[in-house]
Amino acid sequence: MILIITSIITSFFLLSSSSSHPPQNSSCIRVCGTHDKSSQTHVQYPFGFSPSCEIQLNCSEIFTVQIGGFHVQNITNDNILVNIPAECDRPIAKIRQLMGTNYAPTSRNNFLLQNCSKPLKECLIEPRLLEDRFQVKGCQSGNRSCYLEEDRSVQFTSFDTLERTGCSTLFTSIAVENRSVNSSVELEIQTVELGWLLEGPCKCVDQADCTNLTLGQLQGFRCRCKTGFEGDGFVDGGGCRKG
Ligand SMILES: *[C@@H]1O[C@H](CO)[C@@H](O)[C@H](O)[C@H]1NC(C)=O
Ligand SMILES: *[C@@H]1O[C@H](CO)[C@@H](O)[C@H](O)[C@H]1NC(C)=O
Ligand SMILES: *[C@@H]1O[C@H](CO)[C@@H](O)[C@H](O)[C@H]1NC(C)=O
Ligand SMILES: *[C@@H]1O[C@H](CO)[C@@H](O)[C@H](O)[C@H]1NC(C)=O
Ligand SMILES: *[C@@H]1O[C@H](CO)[C@@H](O)[C@H](O)[C@H]1NC(C)=O
Ligand SMILES: *[C@@H]1O[C@H](CO)[C@@H](O)[C@H](O)[C@H]1NC(C)=O
Repeated sequence: MILIITSIITSFFLLSSSSSHPPQNSSCIRVCGTHDKSSQTHVQYPFGFSPSCEIQLNCSEIFTVQIGGFHVQNITNDNILVNIPAECDRPIAKIRQLMGTNYAPTSRNNFLLQNCSKPLKECLIEPRLLEDRFQVKGCQSGNRSCYLEEDRSVQFTSFDTLERTGCSTLFTSIAVENRSVNSSVELEIQTVELGWLLEGPCKCVDQADCTNLTLGQLQGFRCRCKTGFEGDGFVDGGGCRKG
């Protein structure tokens, strides 16, 4: 699969630096790639690739964006979509690599698990219907269980919750997106959806809405520019500008 990240056009940074917003943390590297512009992936505040960034991601040797060794497909105002290829004997503990201080899997993921010690309740996804999509050599087919957070008010899935399923391997995940207000549901196969947040009370510009979030002990927030505006919406980031 070709992995593409929403390229935040360089002009955004030029525009924001000439606007009235305070300068962004200038030591944070927000570009992954070589000097060749076509190989570059830009990420928006608060993401970046150096230790001083608010949320640090990894830029691999082949210039793909990674998080905990998994490839990042897309970063949006609300989430990070991470590629999780179907794999027969991936220990469930690997999901820990996608649980950071500022990000974690959301409750919209349907985890396909294997080697479970007890039966699980059904998910939105019937694993058997998708068997053909995930033919993996040497993988025992069947006997796959699916886990989906039942409590829809839970924002993030914790490792404890996944461990309590009694399953020892994580085959893959299917993120069920609910992007539009028309409740059209979109399936992202072999994908884990991570939610993210910044610590503290809301610090969004006036043209943005703020969402309060809690991840473990961390109380935080996320900004999103109102309709008609573009940008990250953060006071300490690029704010919003007319789209
Ligand atoms: C990334 O997300 C944006 C916003 O939802 C979407 O417009 C874009 O098509 C996505 N890109 C990919 C490669 O999925
Ligand atoms: C980035 O890679 C390093 C070294 O492999 C690892 O220790 C760190 O956890 C990774 N960080 C993320 C966000 O994936
Ligand atoms: C399956 O579960 C058993 C017992 O829980 C464990 O010993 C075994 O290593 C697991 N197999 C895999 C492939 O994880
Ligand atoms: C499927 O699960 C059942 C009950 O956990 C177990 O007895 C059986 O051996 C499993 N079959 C395969 C093919 O793993
Ligand atoms: C939602 O539905 C309305 C009316 O059915 C339509 O006009 C609108 O384009 C839809 N929006 C999206 C994002 O699909
Ligand atoms: C999708 O959106 C609709 C309308 O906003 C909501 O009622 C429904 O619960 C959502 N479904 C999921 C799976 O989040």
